[in-house]
Amino acid sequence: MVLQRILLVCLGNICRSPMAEGILAHLVKERGLIQSIELDSAGTGAYHIGSDPDPRAQSTCLAKGITLHHKARQVKPQDFETFDYILAMDLNNYEALKKIAPHDHLHLMRSFDPLAKNDLNVPDPYYGGVEGFEEVYDMLYRSANGLLDHVLEKIKSNMGYCEE
Ligand code: 4NP
Repeated sequence: MVLQRILLVCLGNICRSPMAEGILAHLVKERGLIQSIELDSAGTGAYHIGSDPDPRAQSTCLAKGITLHHKARQVKPQDFETFDYILAMDLNNYEALKKIAPHDHLHLMRSFDPLAKNDLNVPDPYYGGVEGFEEVYDMLYRSANGLLDHVLEKIKSNMGYCEE
């Protein structure tokens, strides 16, 4: 079996990346990929280690039928060995991750959003209102579907090598 491990990363690991993880978990289940994809999320900062997702992140996802289960943790160098895909939510996170360990498995989440134009950042919704979380949800939902299409292609092409 070809297992792909995906890590979602933002700054605090209480808003964007646990939302991305929850949305992806929902889509992975919907597409019958539970055996093929493992998910986790983490923050580049240490401010919220051990915290539940922000209540606005939880309520925005719950309104779409997605319950978030995560305790915030900080990214660690070992993550670069464990995960096949590391998705940064914005360019600040991307640069911070590159400083920990430059790695070709590092991507911007919105590079998989078909509606993204020049700006590939998922904006930080922490200091704004709940409407910011709804906007972030839509970006993450589109990006998560695009990412899964991409990962699925990779899994299929790897499986091709195993077939007679
Ligand atoms: P996140 O949002 O990176 O999407 O989890 C933030 C959460 C907390 C803080 C900043 C961003 N903070 O400064 O505490």
